[in-house]
Amino acid sequence: MSGIVIRRRFALAALSLFAALTLAACGKQEPATSTTAPAAAPAARVYVVGTDAAYTPFESQNEKGEVVGFDIDVVKAVANKAGIEVKFVNTPWEGIFNALDQGDRDLLVSAITITDERRQTMDFSKPYFEAKQLIAVRRDVPVAKFEDIKTMKVGVQNGTTGDEVVGKLHGKSSGNIKRFESTPLALKELEAGGVEAVVADNGVVVHYLANNTGGGFKTVSDASFPVEHYGIAVRKGNAELLARINKGLDDIRADGSYDKIYAAHFGSAPK
Ligand code: ARG
Repeated sequence: MSGIVIRRRFALAALSLFAALTLAACGKQEPATSTTAPAAAPAARVYVVGTDAAYTPFESQNEKGEVVGFDIDVVKAVANKAGIEVKFVNTPWEGIFNALDQGDRDLLVSAITITDERRQTMDFSKPYFEAKQLIAVRRDVPVAKFEDIKTMKVGVQNGTTGDEVVGKLHGKSSGNIKRFESTPLALKELEAGGVEAVVADNGVVVHYLANNTGGGFKTVSDASFPVEHYGIAVRKGNAELLARINKGLDDIRADGSYDKIYAAHFGSAPK
């Protein structure tokens, strides 16, 4: 009996100690506002960057489990200029904006298109990349424009701009839109014949078709697809971090490192 009570007390004490430590740890993450000198020099703050690393060539995981890609190199270079430390954490697209909002991530880089709707809940850096939607279909299917896939089963990544664009053509709640948790999954389903078309960001579609399908598929563009710009996201109102990121972006453009990173991933310097 008493053993149980003691153990319970101990558990409670351990729990409150844990809570206190957690609070203390959280406190450390906020920029110092107190005027009293800290007892010891605080460890350098590491900014946690969320990325949905199933998006080659922008972000993926290599054999060693490291997150790599164009976006990653851009953020590393920006962080370097901004004098901040970053750590990349693979974060599923479905929960990525929430993870930022909740404070689990400080930054997001994930080929995220800057949209007015997203701007309401997060802040974006200056654009760092231009993209467009692109249709992928089997080579022998007569598709020349977006309208031509109107009656087809179309795969998209859930909650992306591709999803939005197809939603406009098919109607958001159309049963012909198949939503996948990642773009590669949608493209695999296209290969398997489960969907007849996929609409996704051009860079990822082109890369996937070139590396996976042995030439059985083609891409189709459409003049109605809007130009999209990728931005790095920070929590709404995090103006200090955003200013550093924007300055870093300016710096890597000015000193040619952006062009080098671009060429390393896309073969030539941006036009
Ligand atoms: N650019 C598109 C969007 O913002 C798709 C981005 C998906 N990114 C990713 N890493 N899965 O909606």
